[in-house]
Amino acid sequence: MKNSVSWLNLPSLALPLKALFTGYIMLVGIGLMMAGLQVLLTHGMADGKFGISVDDIVYSYYGNTTGSKLESKLNGSMKAHASSEDRLTIIKWARGGADKAEWETTVHPIVEQNCGKCHGMIPSLPDITDYNVAAKEAKLDEGATVSTLARVSHIHLFGISFIFFFIGFIFSLSVGFNKWVKSGLIIFPFLFLIVDISSWWLTKIDPGFAWLVIIGGIGYSIAAGVMLLTSLYQMWVMPLRQKHVDINAWEDDLS
Ligand code: HEC
Repeated sequence: MKNSVSWLNLPSLALPLKALFTGYIMLVGIGLMMAGLQVLLTHGMADGKFGISVDDIVYSYYGNTTGSKLESKLNGSMKAHASSEDRLTIIKWARGGADKAEWETTVHPIVEQNCGKCHGMIPSLPDITDYNVAAKEAKLDEGATVSTLARVSHIHLFGISFIFFFIGFIFSLSVGFNKWVKSGLIIFPFLFLIVDISSWWLTKIDPGFAWLVIIGGIGYSIAAGVMLLTSLYQMWVMPLRQKHVDINAWEDDLS
């Protein structure tokens, strides 16, 4: 049966609408790739290695409760700068909660002597000869704070749902899909976005949820990618290939 809006499909759209949709798809496509790059560069480096892993997600949201930055540096790249006795004193102080009185009497002199020739001299390095800076480095990394999560969550929910709305809207004009498949693809990114954002909060509470963050992110990237590419194909390539058939009749056969 022919319905009155059967002209409204991607292959037979008027050129101005195709231009509008194509411009949008190009920018959103580039935007998605930039978002992917940013995720790789920020979260991806959280465990010190390139590429996203479950550890990255755990460090970003749950934190690293195995030790403070001060402690891990003293066991890592700063190991050579103090004797093991001095390092132990600093680490014990950090684990004990960075007590101010203990800093004045025992820790500050050690840090001043061993670390002060770089920290405090080289402007780009945190001046750990200052109590406040040292105490900050001595704190356990608690991952994302609730206020950061609340801020990033609402920006993502509002902003990304707009993007998915238009991607889905354009794709809803595609031809040749079973209506269940089409509806599934359209609702998928929204569901995965909910999974993704809930899993940030869940990972903050329990690192076991970190893999859900990855599944959510990959899920909506794939669903959005399929819709964007299909829409481009149907607007520009399909009309060339289907010139000899009546596209509207062809769609009605399939749906
Ligand atoms: C020879 C110069 C030098 C000395 C001495 C030195 N550091 Fe460092 N420190 C660096 C440099 C360079 C970095 C940045 C590279 C890195 O993180 O490994 C750094 C980074 C750090 C960081 C990480 C800072 C941050 O927030 O990224 C900590 C903590 C630290 N040092 C602690 C110490 C302690 C404690 C001592 C003394 C036992 C010490 N350093 C002695 C050069 C020095």
